[in-house]
Amino acid sequence: MEKYHADPERYQKLSHRRSGKSGLILPTVSLGLWHNFGSVDSFDNAQRMLRKAFDLGIFHFDLANNYGPEPGSAEENFGKIYVSDFKKHRDELILSTKAGFLMWEGPYGEWGSRKSLIASCDQSLKRMQVDYVDIFYHHRPDPNTPLEESMMALDHIVRSGRALYVGLSNYSTEDALKAFTILRELKTPGVLYQGCFNMLNRKLEDSGMFSMLQENGIGSICFCPLAQGVLTDKYLNGIPANSRATRNHFLKESSLTPELLQKVSALNALAEKRSQSLAQMALAWILSRPGVTSVLCGASSPEQIEACVKAPQNCAFTAEEYAQIDKIVLG
Ligand SMILES: NC(=O)c1ccc[n+]([C@@H]2O[C@H](COP(=O)([O-])OP(=O)(O)OC[C@H]3O[C@@H](n4cnc5c(N)ncnc54)[C@H](OP(=O)(O)O)[C@@H]3O)[C@@H](O)[C@H]2O)c1
Repeated sequence: MEKYHADPERYQKLSHRRSGKSGLILPTVSLGLWHNFGSVDSFDNAQRMLRKAFDLGIFHFDLANNYGPEPGSAEENFGKIYVSDFKKHRDELILSTKAGFLMWEGPYGEWGSRKSLIASCDQSLKRMQVDYVDIFYHHRPDPNTPLEESMMALDHIVRSGRALYVGLSNYSTEDALKAFTILRELKTPGVLYQGCFNMLNRKLEDSGMFSMLQENGIGSICFCPLAQGVLTDKYLNGIPANSRATRNHFLKESSLTPELLQKVSALNALAEKRSQSLAQMALAWILSRPGVTSVLCGASSPEQIEACVKAPQNCAFTAEEYAQIDKIVLG
């Protein structure tokens, strides 16, 4: 591929938000590399998506040790593209990775022991070809390791220069509060929570997570903001070839029930009235909720990224629109 020159206008194209009361600032739309960046995917498309994202003002890329497939290959591909395209922009980028889900054999290949988290972080840095990541997450709570041990491992990861900030993902509100309290006592910058949140899945809001985070000056980044593509118009006229529902088990065709698609169709009509695509309305709706720092989107093409970054341009909803959305989704 030809040499990459970043668009000099990129910072005029997308808004930023501060993560809680910390110094960490994220673009309102971030890009996750869970799908479509692995060794089974097109490397050229992955490179085009990362270039497009950065040109559009997305300076936060989210990874995890196990993203692929093959596990680890998203970090490896990112590393190659980082070296060829983004190395000179290192101080602009916010790169994150995580450990906690199964990555290698034996008792240290997953969960939250000190050994597992530190070893996984070292592996990720090698694959990504960076000296440090900006955010290192514990990907899920470990019911069998003392929380203090996992948090002290995160503390060590920061103090040893492997990460600048740490975050938590998939913790319950109660456990997240305990964990962030330990991090605060250790004076470790635990500044961000990553959880699943979208118009169809509101558990984070219902569980008081956002209020807890706001009370504690911690930001949030919401993953699967499009419910893996369900909250777009792509499944309204059948299941397109190569869409996620045809490609992997995380989004099953059987979950696209007529009832669900009826809701999506009604949301699509509402989005049209707002002069937005459904994908844009779904992202804007999340960004309009109190305490949200960024939406963490996935994509399979540069065009999808182009569409998503327009979402923050219209994040204002009337009380009537909120009520209509709730009625469609919740009944
Ligand atoms: N912490 C965790 O446990 C956790 C868990 C899951 C995800 N995450 C993070 O969150 C990121 C995003 O997750 P996700 O990929 O499920 O997010 P998503 O944004 O809900 O779904 C992305 C999918 O939606 C479709 N899409 C995106 N933009 C579109 C557009 N403008 N128009 C039509 N379709 C569009 C594409 O589907 P097609 O591929 O079908 O085209 C794309 O692959 C991940 O990459 C990862 O970084 C974290």
